[in-house]
Amino acid sequence: MKNTKVIDQGVPARVLAVANQKGGVGKTTTTINLATAMAAVQKKVLIIDLDPQGNASTGLGLYSDARKINTYHLLMGEADLSDAISETNIPGLSVLPSGVDLSGAEIELVEVENRLYRLKTALTGSVSSFDYILIDCPPALGLLTLNALVAAHSVLVPLQCEFFALEGISHLVRTINRVRKAYNPSLDIQGIVLTMFDRRNNLSDSVALEVRDHFGDIVYDTVIPRNVRVSEAPSYGKPVLLYDTSCAGSQAYIHLASEVLRREQALAA
Ligand SMILES: Nc1ncnc2c1ncn2[C@@H]1O[C@H](COP(=O)(O)OP(=O)(O)O)[C@@H](O)[C@H]1O
Ligand SMILES: [Mg+2]
Repeated sequence: MKNTKVIDQGVPARVLAVANQKGGVGKTTTTINLATAMAAVQKKVLIIDLDPQGNASTGLGLYSDARKINTYHLLMGEADLSDAISETNIPGLSVLPSGVDLSGAEIELVEVENRLYRLKTALTGSVSSFDYILIDCPPALGLLTLNALVAAHSVLVPLQCEFFALEGISHLVRTINRVRKAYNPSLDIQGIVLTMFDRRNNLSDSVALEVRDHFGDIVYDTVIPRNVRVSEAPSYGKPVLLYDTSCAGSQAYIHLASEVLRREQALAA
């Protein structure tokens, strides 16, 4: 891992927040693997690990030594983006890691000026060395996630195929609407991705149908299957796309990336 210098090259990055206040729904897995699949098609991608648990950083092989300067320092104005970013082993993919300090940030941010704009401000001016910035949000709708929603152009919502999937998402949608009205007028939902789909389980099918019925086209066609290779990969500090390219989980994330990029191109056209 080496530090990478952020150079302004013109076109600003599109910022996508990967958010759902529920834990364990596949936010981190989606962030890592979507970013890797985008980097594989020559996009320059930055992952911002905004979760104090740091699973995205660990899942990309960044352990504590490589995380001394992290998202916390960026939010507190103690470091610039270029000081805090590391390159990963994946060409084109960089990461702004999380660190233990970030667990205090929810409380510390209450005291600071422009507390909802800290991330947006930190990204301004240096984001054009990336095509996409993916923010891995923590499992809460506190100040960290709000910073992501204020900084983002769009939100990508992973939704686990389980019984209470739709519960809670209305709260997330209300929060997104509130942020749009008050702080970020162009914020929208890029899409909803169904995760951990188990084809042996009828419940997965009925949840998928219900979510599509309720949200329509906003739900991506691609469904991420429950796949043991996906859950094994983080312990090797690798995206599943590198750990086992041919497994069903990797293939699903490649499809998801092309859908996400298609939606982005439609927006740009
Ligand atoms: N498609 C999948 N198949 C199997 N396990 C998965 C899949 N997606 C995520 N997991 C596992 O489920 C757990 C929660 O996923 P994670 O991405 O960390 O969720 P979140 O970031 O929303 O808390 C992790 O242990 C992860 O490895
Ligand atoms: Mg996570």
